[in-house]
Amino acid sequence: MRMYDIIMKKRNGRELSKEEIHFFVDGYTRGEIPDYQASALMMAIYFQKMSQQETSALTMAMARSGDILDLSAIRGIKVDKHSTGGVGDKTSLALTPMVAACGIPVAKMSGRGLGHTGGTIDKLESFPGFTTALTTEQFIDNVNKIGIAIMGQTADLAPADKKLYALRDVTATVDNLSLIASSIMSKKLAAGADAIVLDVKTGSGAFMKDEKDARALAEEMVRIGKSAGRKTIAVISDMDQPLGCAVGNALEVKEAIDTLKGHGPEDFVELCLTLGSQMLLAGGRAQTEESARRMLQEAIDTGSALKKLAEFVEAQGGDSRAVYDTGLLPKARLVQPIPAPAGGYVSRIVCDEVGICSLMLGGGRETKESEIDLSVGLVLCKKVGDRVEAGEPLAMLHANDPGKAAQAEERFLAACSISGTMPNKSPMIKAILP
Ligand code: URA
Repeated sequence: MRMYDIIMKKRNGRELSKEEIHFFVDGYTRGEIPDYQASALMMAIYFQKMSQQETSALTMAMARSGDILDLSAIRGIKVDKHSTGGVGDKTSLALTPMVAACGIPVAKMSGRGLGHTGGTIDKLESFPGFTTALTTEQFIDNVNKIGIAIMGQTADLAPADKKLYALRDVTATVDNLSLIASSIMSKKLAAGADAIVLDVKTGSGAFMKDEKDARALAEEMVRIGKSAGRKTIAVISDMDQPLGCAVGNALEVKEAIDTLKGHGPEDFVELCLTLGSQMLLAGGRAQTEESARRMLQEAIDTGSALKKLAEFVEAQGGDSRAVYDTGLLPKARLVQPIPAPAGGYVSRIVCDEVGICSLMLGGGRETKESEIDLSVGLVLCKKVGDRVEAGEPLAMLHANDPGKAAQAEERFLAACSISGTMPNKSPMIKAILP
């Protein structure tokens, strides 16, 4: 078998066999197939797409490219959660402690930023000293002791996805249904949880801009999860404007902490309660959605979710004092308002553009090797549907470089529309696929 023939076959729109997909995944994981050939195949898949059989074969090959975790040493039904990626998507930071505080063991594998979207691991590194480089023993031990652990993708877990994820990030090959489904589900299957709750985003900040495509992605991932014997649920949620207000690593950590203190933005709290209830139902901790929501709200009201976050940060080497004093998180030197050019209602915020503004400020990667600046980003003062007066701040910009700040401000203003009439707000939750 030759990689050249596989690339050409896909480029010409033909279906790859299971053997060809395994040849590529194994060879690429071992470093025998170079990045340039893998990039060419990703681009061919992007344009020619994959069948369900090809997507399943790619998922299983990537899941088996390393170890499959055995979590049987963790008591209870282990529930994992994963988002298809969005702007301001700090959900895991607030949701996992909420769910863990309700008694669901959370054993989660997370990723870094991808394209215009942020990643949980980058955000968590805002806590000085925090690491996701845990051994399997530490990972299992932490879940048993405190109910929550998050690890990064090690060389042993779905290493094929780790390499392909970084490659797709810089070759404009992220937003393809089969590549997203296989990337997410290979990690989730390798990470060994019993139940998986997927947050599938749709709108201008999502990889799937169109709701129909998001539904197709959700159905594909649920099909793969169920056929692998895992209880799998997908929630389709809105990403047509940034989630909550904060976009940028440390800024999002602060917003997640504020949410656990009971001061979260309405859309973000709604998403956490919806995903959290699905996790409690899947884990057998609640029988109805109402009781699950009550338990989660109680975890916020009593402070137990905030305490859980502090325990989790501490257990993974981080300075948990920042949980109680967010002034200790990384801070940008320049914090300046972006004034509204006119008065009216905010009628649109092109969401991926806001993600790109954060990237331009240094909050994301331009190349695989880029170092990111955890302190930069934007905090929206107005969301879609809000009234704004001319000159009032639309957002606060957090930057370390005045040149980059000016560019990001210009791009942000181009992404916002203000109109004389109040726009319709789209609901946060579009559908739940059991
Ligand atoms: N999240 C992932 O883990 N992989 C993708 O391809 C997209 C979002």
